[in-house]
Amino acid sequence: MLPEEFDLSGRVAIVTGGGTGIGKATARLLARRGADVAIAGRKADVLEAAAEEIRQESGKRCLAVPTDVRKPEHCQALMERAASELGRIDILINNAGGAHGHIGLSKIDLAKWDRDIQLNLSAAQYCAQAALPHLKKSKGCIVNISSLAGVHGTQGVGAYSAAKAGLQMLTRVMAAEWGPAGIRVNCVAPGMTATEQARKNWEKGFYDPIEATKTFPLRRPGEMDEVAQAIAFFASDAASYITGETIAVGGGPQIGGLVDVDA
Ligand SMILES: NC(=O)c1ccc[n+]([C@@H]2O[C@H](COP(=O)([O-])OP(=O)(O)OC[C@H]3O[C@@H](n4cnc5c(N)ncnc54)[C@H](OP(=O)(O)O)[C@@H]3O)[C@@H](O)[C@H]2O)c1
Repeated sequence: MLPEEFDLSGRVAIVTGGGTGIGKATARLLARRGADVAIAGRKADVLEAAAEEIRQESGKRCLAVPTDVRKPEHCQALMERAASELGRIDILINNAGGAHGHIGLSKIDLAKWDRDIQLNLSAAQYCAQAALPHLKKSKGCIVNISSLAGVHGTQGVGAYSAAKAGLQMLTRVMAAEWGPAGIRVNCVAPGMTATEQARKNWEKGFYDPIEATKTFPLRRPGEMDEVAQAIAFFASDAASYITGETIAVGGGPQIGGLVDVDA
């Protein structure tokens, strides 16, 4: 039996990028804990299939809302539709994100730079601002999904790294400005995670997950559910006195400076 602090019965959560990967794992977990959810992304068919799966396994309501989070008017429409069809908004998970291509900063196409900044930083502000009146009513919370690339920086994805670092600071400023209204804002920074897309890349031999994590203290990539657990913690009353924080869920590479000795 789950402690009642983790129970989300009666709450409504929005998960952007909720049709795949970490977002879908999070939407499933929040629904299993009792929340009704709205999932948003650009591909209507992917979203609807995920929503049906979530409804079937949790018995909760799950709304699929086609949305491009880089467009403020779409974010506004998402919040209005979720609030009107599900009745309220308690939890916003700003998860939609990703990097476009792998190229050094000296050669990056500036349209791609703008796209990465918009998707991984600005969209969280668009969604949060649109959700704010609803979150004020519910004294709700926001969880922003950053990345370890935003902690230590990753070559080849400079715009993504900078945006994800910016998202951690945006989390702190949102927390400071909206805390007096009873809204908590926190951030989760995943490391290398075994999403559907990552597994496809490993199978194609793009890189070896064991080789890539061999200096990580935990020596393996993370599972989507391991990231979702941290997100669900921040979204729950178990985190009722925590705001403005970022936690890394990545097996520990950000610790750095460790000499590899036998434990
Ligand atoms: N997987 C990892 O190893 C890892 C590591 C660190 C951080 N993260 C972060 O975790 C989050 C989830 O990533 P993931 O790995 O689970 O990737 P994913 O499966 O590719 O999920 C990304 C989701 O974002 C949605 N999305 C992309 N652009 C969008 C847009 N303009 N508007 C609305 N939705 C959009 C996608 O749906 P559509 O394509 O249908 O729009 C997709 O559902 C991201 O913020 C990512 O940066 C992931």
